[in-house]
Amino acid sequence: MRRRLAVSVLAPRRLFTTEPAAPSDSPHKRALTPEERRLIASMLRVDHAGELGATWIYKGQHAVLGRDSKIGPLLQHMWDQEKVHLAGFDQILANNRVRPTALRPFWEVAGFALGAGTALMGKEAAMACTEAVETVIGEHYNDQLRELLKIDDPEIAKLRAVIKKFRDEELEHLNTAVDHEAKKAPAYPVLTGLIQQGCKTAIWIASKI
Ligand SMILES: [Fe+2]
Ligand SMILES: [Fe+2]
Repeated sequence: MRRRLAVSVLAPRRLFTTEPAAPSDSPHKRALTPEERRLIASMLRVDHAGELGATWIYKGQHAVLGRDSKIGPLLQHMWDQEKVHLAGFDQILANNRVRPTALRPFWEVAGFALGAGTALMGKEAAMACTEAVETVIGEHYNDQLRELLKIDDPEIAKLRAVIKKFRDEELEHLNTAVDHEAKKAPAYPVLTGLIQQGCKTAIWIASKI
């Protein structure tokens, strides 16, 4: 059974709790300001959308390269970790009553198309895609960790621990991609530049919608 994530950030109406709790059981040292609540809700929505996209990127890559004896198990491992990240944010969003992105079907199709498309260009292009995506996601999580550090609250500290763990796994994916010759992909600078720009645009869109 999957371990429950007990982060209840947004108490009393819990905008950040990893665990369901009665509204009166606020674990916060102080009430979060409306600004902090808005910021955290937006962060959670973006992170959830990002993990959704990542899950579908690996699904797309696995659909094309899953039977490759060397790359297949690597893709499966990274895909499995993304599924855990997504399930974590699913739970955190629900516990904190944060609305998920309205563009879920779009991120699924876009993620799958990016994953399958780069995999069709070859193993190195698939790895270049992973390198580009995980670079942006790693930086994005680092930016969030810096922002959250400004809020002294035990529930926020729990959220930071969750994000840190996921960030570390994203950076493992990045290292895996580099170790598996991402830089030998055709048109590597153009390909990774386009994907990184696309990810940054996706983060911006997901923070709004
Ligand atoms: Fe992830
Ligand atoms: Fe990842």
